[in-house]
Amino acid sequence: MSINFEKNGLIAHIKNSSISYILEVIDDKYLINRYFGKTIREYRETNTFQYFKRGYNTQHISSIEHLSFDDFPFEYPARGHGDYRIPAISITPSTGIDFIDLTFKEWRILKEKPKISGLPSTFSEEGETETLEIICEDVSSGIRVYMYYSIFDNLGIIVRHQKIENFGIQKVTINSAKSLSLELPAKDYDFLSLYGTHAKEANVSRFALHRGIQKIESARGASSPQHQPFFALLSPDTCEESGEVYGFHLIYSGSFSAEVEKDQFGNVRAQMGLNPDNFKWSLESGEIFETPEVVINYSNNGLNGMSQNFHKLYKSHLIPKKIMNQERPILLNSWESMYYDVTLDKIEQQSNIAQELGIELFVLDDGWFRLSNSSKTSMGDWKCNEKKLPGGINKVAEIIHKKGLKFGLWFEPEMISKASNLYSEHPEWALQIPNYPMIEGRNQYVLDLSRKDVQEYIINIFHEYLKDGKIEYIKWDMNRPLTEVNSLELDFGRKSEIWHRYVLGLYYVLETIISTYPNVLFEGCSSGGARFDPGMLYYTPQIWTSDNTDAFDRTIIQSGYSLLYPPIAMGAHVSITPNHQTGRITSMNTRYQVARLFNLGYELDLSKCQDYEIKEIAEQIAESKRNKKLIQYGDFFRHDVQNDNYSMWSTVNSDKTEAIVIIFQKFHNPIKSHCLFKLNYLNSDFDYCEKNTGKIYGGDELMSVGLSIPLIKSDFHAFAFHFEKIS
Ligand code: DGJ
Repeated sequence: MSINFEKNGLIAHIKNSSISYILEVIDDKYLINRYFGKTIREYRETNTFQYFKRGYNTQHISSIEHLSFDDFPFEYPARGHGDYRIPAISITPSTGIDFIDLTFKEWRILKEKPKISGLPSTFSEEGETETLEIICEDVSSGIRVYMYYSIFDNLGIIVRHQKIENFGIQKVTINSAKSLSLELPAKDYDFLSLYGTHAKEANVSRFALHRGIQKIESARGASSPQHQPFFALLSPDTCEESGEVYGFHLIYSGSFSAEVEKDQFGNVRAQMGLNPDNFKWSLESGEIFETPEVVINYSNNGLNGMSQNFHKLYKSHLIPKKIMNQERPILLNSWESMYYDVTLDKIEQQSNIAQELGIELFVLDDGWFRLSNSSKTSMGDWKCNEKKLPGGINKVAEIIHKKGLKFGLWFEPEMISKASNLYSEHPEWALQIPNYPMIEGRNQYVLDLSRKDVQEYIINIFHEYLKDGKIEYIKWDMNRPLTEVNSLELDFGRKSEIWHRYVLGLYYVLETIISTYPNVLFEGCSSGGARFDPGMLYYTPQIWTSDNTDAFDRTIIQSGYSLLYPPIAMGAHVSITPNHQTGRITSMNTRYQVARLFNLGYELDLSKCQDYEIKEIAEQIAESKRNKKLIQYGDFFRHDVQNDNYSMWSTVNSDKTEAIVIIFQKFHNPIKSHCLFKLNYLNSDFDYCEKNTGKIYGGDELMSVGLSIPLIKSDFHAFAFHFEKIS
């Protein structure tokens, strides 16, 4: 990993063994992007500019003949100068005009990766990253922009963010400040993103990039299940196992937008950051604003190569090290077996069986504080309903701890019910616009997390519950998007800041609680995956992937999320059949195989299971415990399969001596069942024993010829293989 200045300090070349990122200063003024992609040893300007005299254009005095800003590869473009594509930054200074002229001032290398104040970001230890700091400024407007690019050793990743300083004497307004703006050369690309909705998250959308702007966004106040704050640009022939990919992922949990513009010459500009529709920020003289961090990923090893980069980054540089170094507990969650109707008897009965089965953590979900068995009341009060649970949460903790299990408790801290003491006392704490109706979502309003008093209230609730160490796990839920997004407390001139201030408030609350209780494990959740993003992952190292627990649907949802997130970050539970969301019937084995390479849990009424099911679950748990290290620290791959009736996953340890491979058959189809499955991520020089059958195969044969599966007349069937290297 290195950052070198070349051409008398006019070129900066950021590189490691996988990637190069090259910037150049033209005319001592304009900062432009020259290249991003596979590592090159030395940059000697093979890609000289090819400009020619164009009509209906603008003139720029420059060392480049006929330079046109129309397609000039600006690194952080503003508007108004003759670059008519999407701007990365838009600021209205005291002129009242949305126009600034940022020019290059200086750059330098930082050995320590800078933190971003109030926002989650990737971290590194000494020697793991190098950072390029670039300063550009507009002296007339008093605006200085600091741009930070950090490169990690051995990862095809650069992370980037900006700091904007008002060094003038007048207030300025930031209308938009993207985290990413990247120029890519004219060629064909596919645009890939993840879209969805509640209970159907992370579906892959892929289409050929066309001229004009293509955009995805969330304007819901949270990252949302509608679009993941991610997209990738791929060569049209890219598949899971080969091809070029540029991937971008925003470390942020609020409204975002991501746009790609293909101009008239075919050049491509990719951008991502805070959604300008939900944003405006007043920057007083001397103040600084920081953008969220964006992850820029390049791989020429297909989508799996991109995923490996993201997974490694998040496992080593985003999820707290302390948590990453501990094996995650196999849990039992009460939601689908009790819903709101939680009782001590049920808890006693279920935790008894859980103990016998070897489950390690019992999570009491929603219902424990509600006055009735519905979502209508009590949000915000967080007082246990002792009519349901005599003795309160202490009693529940005692029951669970007696069985040797850890205890986890569900909260939805950002919400307030109309029918709550909190709302009677503090109606002003909810987001609202005076004289307009407040819209409920799941019978609740959203607390104004930009307020200090609200932040302190939530933090104190957690002190109350966590201070005596009886709760080892918190599930942090959030079940509605934001509406009437206004804070009664914010000054008139700052009203549009509320969207971002909400997220900053949330991060402040999480940071305070998590740093006070570093031993408590946090699970993120938002009606499943409605706020599954790297920002939340920083605080909540595992996230409930979807409210849809159906095994077949989960193969799609988990595959989608696995493009970005390591499997240990994704909660995957074995639930009851017929499934509560889809009514689909699948075998206990299929439900387990779909969940076992992820963060395994159970979410069904164990007291209603048949003896043979209990026996099966006990075997599953024993097997999963034996494989915990492989699952948590191994590398997860999706496989290209020739027949779309099948999908295939594998988890392989780092030295490729062990692998679990799972193949899913959607439907039994007698005429289409012959398909060979290549195990591409083994070592061709090793011999492997398949543990279930004792058969021995060469890695080369498994990788080149492929494996066939037996003919099983069953829909939604899962085939599992466990290979171990023999000496
Ligand atoms: C939505 C979550 O995704 C579920 O797992 C459950 O916790 C419910 N909320 C409880 O209200």
